[in-house]
Amino acid sequence: MKQRIELASTALNQARQTLQHQFYPNYHLAPYAGWLNDPNGLIYHEGLYHAFYQHHPFSADWGPMHWGHATSEDMIHWQHQPIALAPGDEFDRDGCFSGSAVSHNGQLYLFYTGHIWLSGEGDDSHIHQSQCLAISHDGIHFEKKGVVVPCPQGYMHFRDPKVWYQDDRWWMVVGARDSLDQGQILLFTSHDLLTWSENYQVLAKTDDKNVYMWECPDFFSLGEQFVTLFSPQGKKPQGHQYRNLYQNGYLVGNWSPNQPYEITNQFSELDMGHDFYAPQTFLAQDGRRIAIAWMDMWESAMPSKAHGWCGCFTVPRELTLDDQGKIISNPINELTSLRTEQIDIAPCTLTKNSSLTLLDEASSCEIELIWDLQQSPAEKFGFWLGDGAEFFIDGQNQQLTLSRHYPEYAISGYRSAPLPQTRHLKVRAFIDKSSLEVFINDGELTFSSRIYPKENERKLKIFTINQQAKLIQGTIWPL
Ligand code: FRU
Repeated sequence: MKQRIELASTALNQARQTLQHQFYPNYHLAPYAGWLNDPNGLIYHEGLYHAFYQHHPFSADWGPMHWGHATSEDMIHWQHQPIALAPGDEFDRDGCFSGSAVSHNGQLYLFYTGHIWLSGEGDDSHIHQSQCLAISHDGIHFEKKGVVVPCPQGYMHFRDPKVWYQDDRWWMVVGARDSLDQGQILLFTSHDLLTWSENYQVLAKTDDKNVYMWECPDFFSLGEQFVTLFSPQGKKPQGHQYRNLYQNGYLVGNWSPNQPYEITNQFSELDMGHDFYAPQTFLAQDGRRIAIAWMDMWESAMPSKAHGWCGCFTVPRELTLDDQGKIISNPINELTSLRTEQIDIAPCTLTKNSSLTLLDEASSCEIELIWDLQQSPAEKFGFWLGDGAEFFIDGQNQQLTLSRHYPEYAISGYRSAPLPQTRHLKVRAFIDKSSLEVFINDGELTFSSRIYPKENERKLKIFTINQQAKLIQGTIWPL
């Protein structure tokens, strides 16, 4: 593997020289060069945060999957590390697919899916997938140990292991598609991380016959309950929901070892934006449950490919569960360390069809706007970012909308969600060079989407259309 990693590093270094930075994020993790998709192996290990990711170092397109690697002291400032895993051994010949990490006795264990195309690259109907292990003593160089969980009979799509320790045992959930093409999660156990039970339990399974696969499962306790987080494929759009090609969301329930998972809250999307997929969670040093997702969507237009790189993570979000069993998702506190100054916006009432410029060039900033919904009878009000992106409260339809329009990249359309029925609406947004993440009412709803403004066309304005809108508090922090 060493040679393959060296080859990949040379390619990356060359590609980096010609990388164009127009859309390259300021504070989101993106590949040094080349392609990135799912977050993998997120973990706090021996004093550092590690983030791995699905990576193709030889071009900005998806290809034979490697594991890229970065480390951080605060989950915000990342340092690129050498590639951790390169495919090409008999058990992972065509790809080291997604997986997770475990810190054990000072060593870092990576569990990942060894992927093999059985009848030609890209033919999803003939593949072989198994769960493999690689171990590192120094947290940088990994030694592959081969297959630890072979594909059970009756399955072919079997991937994305997530491993954790609980009640004197190790546990692994794996995403799967059964012979009837139904998405589900299989659960395995082990006493030593090396030998895994052949017997498995179907932990949870789709009740929507259109859903043929559950990718990237995660399973963890939050508050008093257990959350199953996964990315179902095949769901059909329904009202505001399931508007992306593939979805991501969660179930909430009760679980203890050897008991069935008793679901108390049915599937609910974790984010309402265009670009949120394959999130993985991990525990911060102080025990907070943190989630990071791939901020893109399969088969969508990805303009930065032409710039030599593609794909980035969301900001890390702290997850908590409210008393209704709903996940509340907030940007981690560490993000405040990026603030350079604070700009206060005087409370104001925007009169009918007016707008107010808050920043001339919003390329990297955090904003917080608190609107008084009772005193804002406008048809539509919120903020514009250049000509291409807007986030607004739609008073007529009582919904929140994030809308994008970049015809030069064939990107346009909107995502929306019902407007929370609160007197005040807090809109907190993180803007980076090619992303917009909006958090509503302290994490009750989130929208994450990639945006592609032209250079010098990033004016940030608040606006109202037909009738007034009242802003009771506004703050901007350039980052
Ligand atoms: C999810 C996914 C995983 C797979 C990986 C391949 O985005 O399709 O199921 O392991 O990406 O890159």
